[in-house]
Amino acid sequence: MSRFGPDPLAFFEAVYRDPAPWDIGGPQPEMTELLEEYSPQGPVLDLGCGSGDLAIHLAANGLETLGIDFVEEAIAQARSKRATLASDIAARLEFCVADALQPSRLKRTFGAVVDSGFYHLFDSEQCTRFVDELASVLRPGGRCYLHEFAVTFPVPNVPRQITEAELREEFAAEKDWRILTIRSGEFLSRVAPVPAIVACIEYVGTNGAKPF
Ligand SMILES: C[S@@+](CC[C@H](N)C(=O)[O-])C[C@H]1O[C@@H](n2cnc3c(N)ncnc32)[C@H](O)[C@@H]1O
Repeated sequence: MSRFGPDPLAFFEAVYRDPAPWDIGGPQPEMTELLEEYSPQGPVLDLGCGSGDLAIHLAANGLETLGIDFVEEAIAQARSKRATLASDIAARLEFCVADALQPSRLKRTFGAVVDSGFYHLFDSEQCTRFVDELASVLRPGGRCYLHEFAVTFPVPNVPRQITEAELREEFAAEKDWRILTIRSGEFLSRVAPVPAIVACIEYVGTNGAKPF
């Protein structure tokens, strides 16, 4: 069973009936700092994009960006924000309802994937399959940006702790990944900041991905 009960979609739909705790009115600052330090190539895929602030930030910085989330209300909120943007930014931005655990189903490839609080929702077996999915949609030299909880709270229905050791194992050199940085940080929320881990990892393989 998922960390969020037998029906994770119903769980997240219920969360979006009120302002979501992760909806801080903008992208996570440490994710935007990471993107400044290790610049992404477009097009960018934002996995579990929520109400769209990170995708909007990327499009405002000139990158073609697709945000996906499985909650229709989250995508509706993201599209409402898109409707208020300058037309050149909005033209670079797309949001759709889709399963972010299976981005290969989009039948598209990307220069970068951003994951702000998505990976940590899943148990390690699911994450292993998810990392293979990431490789299949990233172009050679494409980068993956992660910002996840570094703690597990002793309550149900919360993300799990992601460690540097786990990321080094999942994104191993033998699986064609090259770690550019992994460091500690904070994940801001409407409740309180949470200790976090931040990483930028490059896909150096060609398996399943089309070259630029
Ligand atoms: C912790 S929130 C983070 C939202 C956003 N990235 C942010 O930083 O504000 C996780 C998001 O993942 C979405 N999600 C969970 N499982 C999903 C799945 N299988 N496919 C697509 N979205 C999913 C949830 O609906 C939620 O919007």
